[in-house]
Amino acid sequence: MTAAIIDGKAIAAMLRAKVASEVARLKSDHGVTPGLAVVLVGTDPASEVYVRSKSKAVIEAGMAPCDHKLPATTSEQEVLALVARLNADPAVSGILVQLPLPPQIDAQKVIAAIDPLKDVDGFHPINVGRLSSGLPALTPCTPAGCVILAKSVRGSLAGLDAVVIGRSNIVGKPVAQLLLAENATVTIAHSKTRDLPGLCRRADILVAAIGKSEFVRGDWIKPGATVIDVGINRVAGEGGKARIVGDVAFDEAKAVAGAITPVPGGVGPMTIACLMLNTVRAACALKGVKAEI
Ligand code: GUN
Repeated sequence: MTAAIIDGKAIAAMLRAKVASEVARLKSDHGVTPGLAVVLVGTDPASEVYVRSKSKAVIEAGMAPCDHKLPATTSEQEVLALVARLNADPAVSGILVQLPLPPQIDAQKVIAAIDPLKDVDGFHPINVGRLSSGLPALTPCTPAGCVILAKSVRGSLAGLDAVVIGRSNIVGKPVAQLLLAENATVTIAHSKTRDLPGLCRRADILVAAIGKSEFVRGDWIKPGATVIDVGINRVAGEGGKARIVGDVAFDEAKAVAGAITPVPGGVGPMTIACLMLNTVRAACALKGVKAEI
């Protein structure tokens, strides 16, 4: 069997086009332009790349960017003061503080200071709690993207066995909650899990969010499974040129799975598209307009 390749780039482009039309409707019918504030502290190269692509997507969707680049020496107090200003700014619908933050800043404190209605990352304890209680919430972008991709293949996920490898607050735990909300039977695996290959072999949906290049092998995969690879790992390729690989050994997995996301071009583009979706939804909620997306 050769797996279908799940085209995250195309699915993300469709979602972004829908967001752009919702933004156009908000502007013309309600005089509202959603705005996304992105806060970057320091000069982590990967974070700088993400922040640039987020701002580009904001502009393409017809929304207003508002980027704050702060030096790596910025104090926690200064970041908290900026978050307070953004909370109070009516032009800002969404606030994203890029992680990781430098060691002098407590990320949990900063996340908790963001207005939950503007928390487009879905990391605030209020949104985490609302998601796990089955209440409407802003939900984390990468996990939301994973679920959209899985549903693009399987339609309903109800009753399917889903295994999530990784228990981070950014991906593993929220993607498990979202899969549960779709009525999948969900297991979260992690570094202490016994017989990880055996567990994975039972999964109809396998989400790999470990951060280790090509960790999941082909013989861990149930024939016909849907494999969602969240990993973005830089490795030395031929001639010393860096290349990006996922957490799944793609060529091996492709021979067994029913469908698989490529890296790059799978989950990555969905994260930004879901961030745009959250920003326009946040703008609607803040302005008391019913979202049509
Ligand atoms: N760093 C890596 N992924 C993310 C994300 O989804 N949101 C934020 N704020 N920082 C990140």
